[in-house]
Amino acid sequence: MKPRKRHVLLLWMLICSGAMTEAIEPISTTIAVGMAATLTAFLASYQNLFYYFNECCRPEWISFNRTALDVDLQRKLFGQHIASRIILKAVNGFMSNENPKKPLVLSLHGWTGTGKNFVTKLIAESIYKEGMGSGFVHVFTSTLHFPHPSQYPTYKSQLQQWIKGNVTNCERSMFIFDEMDKMHPDLIDCIKPYLDYYDKLDGVSYRKAIFIFLSNTGGDGIIQTALDFWKAGRNREEIELKDLEMSLSLAVFNNNQSGFYRASLIDKNLVDFFVPFLPLEYQHIVQCTLAEMEARGLRPDRDVANMVAKDLVYFPKSERVFSVKGCKTIVSKLDYYT
Ligand SMILES: *[C@@H]1O[C@H](CO)[C@@H](O)[C@H](O)[C@H]1NC(C)=O
Ligand SMILES: *[C@@H]1O[C@H](CO)[C@@H](O)[C@H](O)[C@H]1NC(C)=O
Ligand SMILES: *[C@@H]1O[C@H](CO)[C@@H](O)[C@H](O)[C@H]1NC(C)=O
Repeated sequence: MKPRKRHVLLLWMLICSGAMTEAIEPISTTIAVGMAATLTAFLASYQNLFYYFNECCRPEWISFNRTALDVDLQRKLFGQHIASRIILKAVNGFMSNENPKKPLVLSLHGWTGTGKNFVTKLIAESIYKEGMGSGFVHVFTSTLHFPHPSQYPTYKSQLQQWIKGNVTNCERSMFIFDEMDKMHPDLIDCIKPYLDYYDKLDGVSYRKAIFIFLSNTGGDGIIQTALDFWKAGRNREEIELKDLEMSLSLAVFNNNQSGFYRASLIDKNLVDFFVPFLPLEYQHIVQCTLAEMEARGLRPDRDVANMVAKDLVYFPKSERVFSVKGCKTIVSKLDYYT
């Protein structure tokens, strides 16, 4: 009841300020009648007006645009032919299903600067009008939100309450866990029930929520495969998911440092898609830089892009094939060169 009263007050403030005040001056019957009619019409549309200005858990604010995601992945993400294909298929399949059996769980793997965070942003933008700024998108970074081992019991109950509270508010909520490899297995365990095939849990259905895990786990294996292809003179686009799956699952299963280990996310098949991100080459850095220039409203200049790309560090030492930091540092480099 309370918020509704506040909204009515808001409506009154809207009507009683600005343009209307002038008309009120000489109060005549016609104007009074006119005002009553206006008010009625306003009240009828007031709810829509309210939804228009305030982010709500409604299709006006949350609706998946497949074209937008497809176009963004093609135009803005570079060197990730496997990731881009899986992401589009996974998100599109999930969002077009009116009655999913479980929430969508994506696990993005790869070295720093390869585009994991960026893709997450593109997904959010294709679903929420407000993108990453949406009140329905929640980001947790292990070292930031859960830094102290002594606090794990508190973190656990807090995290569970947050997930439950937010999904109760809006079933189309998105939860992003950055640095998943640094997250304690107990904490991972505590979110497991929400990822599973339950119709409802304590009266709340989590089946329309989206969980995205980001980690470096398996990054070394992915790099090795990419390097093997490069050394064999094979085209990078020939790398297929099955070439990476082995090293990816080995790393995720066997790395006893990683939070994935012990957490039975894997053996219970709660993760729907493991998405590998390849290390980026010189040409991709040039593409990222040109895209960044365009985004800033600058004229894309290949010479500048080459300077930025040449300035980065590449590995392995002898071959210098892959950018150590991917596209991550080009923003500051670009400031320097433009
Ligand atoms: C979906 O995205 C495309 C490309 O960004 C855009 O042209 C189109 O207007 C969007 N559709 C809706 C319904 O917002
Ligand atoms: C939703 O999650 C945020 C953290 O992202 C938290 O601060 C907030 O309290 C949660 N809301 C509810 C209703 O639990
Ligand atoms: C992790 O694995 C290594 C070798 O695979 C082993 O030496 C080490 O004891 C393990 N650590 C833990 C905590 O199990």
